[in-house]
Amino acid sequence: MTADRSIGILGLGTMGRSLALNFRDRGIAVVGGDPAESARRAAAAAGLAVLADPAALVAALARPRRILLVVPAGPPVDAALDLLLPLLAPGDVVIDGGNSHWRDSARRAARLEARGLAFVGLGISGGEEGARHGPALMAGASVEVWETIRPLLEPIAARAEDGEPCCARFGPAPAGHLVKTVHNGIEYAVMQALAEVVDLAGRGHGLDLSAIADLLEGWARGPCGGFLLETAIRVLRTVDPESGRPLLAFVRDRAEQKGTGGWTAIEALELGVAAPTLIEAVQARSLSAFPPRVELARTLPRPARAAPAGRPEDLEGALLATLLGAHAQGFALLAAARDERGWPEDPGRIARTWRAGCILRGALLEPIARAFARDPALPFLLLDEELLALLLSGLADLRTAVEDGARTGVPLPAMAASLAWLDALASARLPADLIQAMRDRFGAHGFERIDRPGRHHDLWLGT
Ligand code: 6PG
Repeated sequence: MTADRSIGILGLGTMGRSLALNFRDRGIAVVGGDPAESARRAAAAAGLAVLADPAALVAALARPRRILLVVPAGPPVDAALDLLLPLLAPGDVVIDGGNSHWRDSARRAARLEARGLAFVGLGISGGEEGARHGPALMAGASVEVWETIRPLLEPIAARAEDGEPCCARFGPAPAGHLVKTVHNGIEYAVMQALAEVVDLAGRGHGLDLSAIADLLEGWARGPCGGFLLETAIRVLRTVDPESGRPLLAFVRDRAEQKGTGGWTAIEALELGVAAPTLIEAVQARSLSAFPPRVELARTLPRPARAAPAGRPEDLEGALLATLLGAHAQGFALLAAARDERGWPEDPGRIARTWRAGCILRGALLEPIARAFARDPALPFLLLDEELLALLLSGLADLRTAVEDGARTGVPLPAMAASLAWLDALASARLPADLIQAMRDRFGAHGFERIDRPGRHHDLWLGT
């Protein structure tokens, strides 16, 4: 093979193979490699150029070489770098397309830069289908390196309805993975909110799965519409061929997680951003997998059967308020990271990049993108009139749904957290005054007064 391939892909699992086919279909010369023979064979059977030896793969690339890693996040990325580094020359570019932590990407970028190599952290969203036909791509790279890889990445990316490629650079190397991580944090919240709607519609309102699918179907063209709603509908409608019953009835109710939702929660806690809906979505997965739950489900009392006050169709408003709240919290987190580190840049472009190809794609991204078009420096989504009006249109329904959850004993952690968050935002005065006073009483931490400037202290003697 002559050294004329535009990009090499290391890691030919489902995602790597799908991305390689996507490059090939766009006329971009690609060569792939993988240590596993079965992965190489599957890729070759799909018509891809495959080389077993990493040195041969590197040698097949035009200079400067660009290599996309599609390996699991964590140690496999470092192992791939260990393998590649001795084979590369200054100016070559390694792109990590996994769900890596942004701090790892910062470390890896420094490691490569010390050798004159470039590192790109690339968040890729859209699953297998997206990888094959158009994912959303969230990049972190230097401006110079970005301009050299952009002509390779833009053609394989999804396009929004207005034709803009869902592929952008959001700052230096770690920025892309932070944007992808927060995308996933919001993804967890949307999935949890959908699960809560289905649970309340089922256990609270007494609908069966097929009636719930019909209910959700009616929302598909509204503001809650999107890939995840459609996915939920498909799941609800799928029948187990053996029993003829809904397949969902046979799925163990223990949610797994690979880390990005938790990283988003940790990021919010570290940056001091209130993101309770995103955090509750992670906690709900952990609680679902908490072993004592099974035993306690037999002993803990449940509320006496009570009829919900709301109607099933009103759950759309509750879902809308929760989804918008989750997006607002995610963008607030990105804004706080930007204040702290200078990136990720361009929140409007982040919203536009999430309009197609990615798991979050859905109707809500259009008004969010419009809000940033009106004010590119919008610090918080709910300060935009259109978005606030949209959220307010579902607020009463959210309150009713949370009341119904409490009344019927259906846990709604994401929805309840969203409602409490909104009620806090709507409160001119919060009980944080008591917290400050108690801190000052036992720790002499001081407090601010609202009637005069400066820091104050009192012994709080109670007299
Ligand atoms: C995507 C997805 C994808 C995957 C995550 C979340 O954007 O294509 O976010 O990356 O769904 O790995 O996985 P977990 O739910 O296992 O954490």
